[in-house]
Amino acid sequence: MGSTVSAQTYRHVGRGIPRLDGEEKVRGLAQYADDIPAPDAWFGEVVRAPVSHGRLRSLSFDPAFDWSRVCVVTPEDIPGENIVDMMGRDMPFLAHDWIQYKGEPLALIAAPTRALAREATRFVRAEIEEHPPLLTLGEMVAAYKSDPARLHRLAGQTISKGSVEQGFAEADLVVEGEYTAGHQEQLYIEPQGMVAFPEPDGGVFIQGSLQCPYYVAPELIVTLKLPLEKIRVRQTAVGGAFGGKEEFPTLLAGYCALLALKCRKPVKMIYDRHQDILFTTKRHPVWARYRTGLKRDGSITAMQVEFLLDGGAYTTLSPVVLYRGILHSTLGYKCPHVFVDGRVYRTNTFPNGAFRGFGAPQAIWALESQIERCAQAVGMGPDEFRLRNALRLGDSTATGQVISEPMGTPDVLEKTLARSDFTAKRARCSRGKPGAQKWYGIGLSFFGHGSGFTGDGEARLKARAALDLELFDDGEPGVNIRISSTEMGQGTFTIMPQIAADGLSVDLARVRCPHPDTKYVPDSGPTVASRTAMVVGGTVYGAAQKLKAQLEAYAAETFFGGAPVELKDSAFRNAYTGDAVPFARVARRLIEERGPQRVYNQFQLPPSIKWDQKTFRGDSYPSYSWGCNVAEVEIDPLTLEIKVTRITSCWDIGRLINPVLAKGQIEGGLAQALGYAVMEKIEIKNGVYDASRMQTYVVPTMLDAPEMIVDFIEYPYTHAAPGAKGVGEIPMDGLAPAIANAVEAACGVRITDLPITPEKLLAHLQYA
Ligand code: MOS
Repeated sequence: MGSTVSAQTYRHVGRGIPRLDGEEKVRGLAQYADDIPAPDAWFGEVVRAPVSHGRLRSLSFDPAFDWSRVCVVTPEDIPGENIVDMMGRDMPFLAHDWIQYKGEPLALIAAPTRALAREATRFVRAEIEEHPPLLTLGEMVAAYKSDPARLHRLAGQTISKGSVEQGFAEADLVVEGEYTAGHQEQLYIEPQGMVAFPEPDGGVFIQGSLQCPYYVAPELIVTLKLPLEKIRVRQTAVGGAFGGKEEFPTLLAGYCALLALKCRKPVKMIYDRHQDILFTTKRHPVWARYRTGLKRDGSITAMQVEFLLDGGAYTTLSPVVLYRGILHSTLGYKCPHVFVDGRVYRTNTFPNGAFRGFGAPQAIWALESQIERCAQAVGMGPDEFRLRNALRLGDSTATGQVISEPMGTPDVLEKTLARSDFTAKRARCSRGKPGAQKWYGIGLSFFGHGSGFTGDGEARLKARAALDLELFDDGEPGVNIRISSTEMGQGTFTIMPQIAADGLSVDLARVRCPHPDTKYVPDSGPTVASRTAMVVGGTVYGAAQKLKAQLEAYAAETFFGGAPVELKDSAFRNAYTGDAVPFARVARRLIEERGPQRVYNQFQLPPSIKWDQKTFRGDSYPSYSWGCNVAEVEIDPLTLEIKVTRITSCWDIGRLINPVLAKGQIEGGLAQALGYAVMEKIEIKNGVYDASRMQTYVVPTMLDAPEMIVDFIEYPYTHAAPGAKGVGEIPMDGLAPAIANAVEAACGVRITDLPITPEKLLAHLQYA
């Protein structure tokens, strides 16, 4: 690619243009999974295990039901291996021996109507020898402390820097804390949905609501026993995902494909909300224990962290969620001696998975609560302590990554402190003063978020992008962006045309980003990990520059008698004569002469990025975004109702491609983080989540949204123009601890378990 970020000015990048997919969505033209025309489709349903843990003795089909009316898939019908081919390879598509969670699929049924398919599931009998389950984070942590041999470890990883023994020996005091948080549900507006069409050549065409077209196909090869090219995957319009459509769609696609291949009809599965909450992934519950060594002057000498995630029943993506979690568990602060021990253990609940932030919100919840306690222990203000210890140019992280170029640390912190008037407002906090009408508190958090895959993941993935110069349906030449990145509401289909139009120097109207279909797009990787704007955006920009050079060479030879020309603002110009030929004329002539043109480009990590996956040493991310949150709260001393009144924030997410969309991402992410902090709550009852409907799983609405002040400082990524870093996940990372810190400033109670509720405050205040 070779394009580096310069001081160049952009025409489309940096402008808050309206989203390009807005009109089709507002007018109801966008096709979501349930809108895909499939008039003769059958409807799929899953037969689910009625117990949380046990051995399946037999599965039988009650003759009272007429089974000729439906199509059934049992483990014996799976053409390949009965395995979901994710990291652990420990999860069967259909349980056939051990059952590890209540609701685990035992068989699949398709029928001409949804009602008939559902009715049929009630006539399947499973004989199961029950075993005691391990269900909750609380039980898991109790076992970890008393009898860890009882636990089944799904993943583990440590990070080690210096010697924590030495660090604690040098400390004047040691601060300890334990922090926990439960499940969180993504609650996208559109539930999970998929349609699979059997193809005449024996293959299958899958269309649905998903984030990662190139995850689904390779993960189904061993199950469907089909070559990769016979599993075609197309993303439909997606009504929100937040990580919830990262790995789960492989399961739903597999259910639909297995049924479609057996009954030779299209098979559709659209989860209703109840199914969607009960039987899809959640954020991993976390327990973290911190020990921090401090000098009286406020410097940190040692950080020791135990970081446990509740993985649910199977491995799925838990190892990588754990990696991001532990890499963020000490991020942002100078410390010479660090030891982090991360583990994921099995519980007998639905496998936990990707959710905006991917382990980082869990880690930063604990870290920024602990940092607050450290400031108190040395008698410093939370602002002063963070400014003293924040990473600066030349400092290194726990893995030894050196901050080698200017970034938003500590600038976002300084700017937010000033904008929020933090110091003055902190002096006014109530601290549980008796007789007050309202308790007021203000709290702070500071954090980073790694952009892109962990370590050298981007070097191994080699993301590719293509641009097709062809005639649009209006008959005029234009450029289609061919990437596997998906639009799920976050703005991919708007920012990519902005980037490509600037790389080419053509009008935005001549560049489009259609829904990815593996038949047409190369693998630019999954739409996850805060990587799309930086990695795929950079790759698209490089591809646009390649296409521009090709077009300039063709224009020079065909229209300018060999004299050099530059494509600028949709016209080819010769700098000496001033002669100009429009882009459309040159492009049309080229397509007529040589056919549509495709250029490819591939992302490259700079060779300076070094990572050792075994030791977890080196450059753990290609770059980092940075954020700071100041939360202000009011607590009613009678009801203990917590109202978050204002959030002041500043962010370094690299170059802003579209400031309006970026701000939307921040505000939406903060609302989701507000839910995580003070509202969203799931417990396990009879083996399943107790909050299983929108009535019982309560998320913030507009009425709960506080005033949000959002500022940016731009430190562009320097190795791929136009230099975005990541904005998708970081707004989820830091609000919960800022609120916990504000709640303590307001009423004097520190809550260490999310969500922070009036009930928990009452329990503490009654004690005191
Ligand atoms: Mo994600 S949570 O990296 O889709």
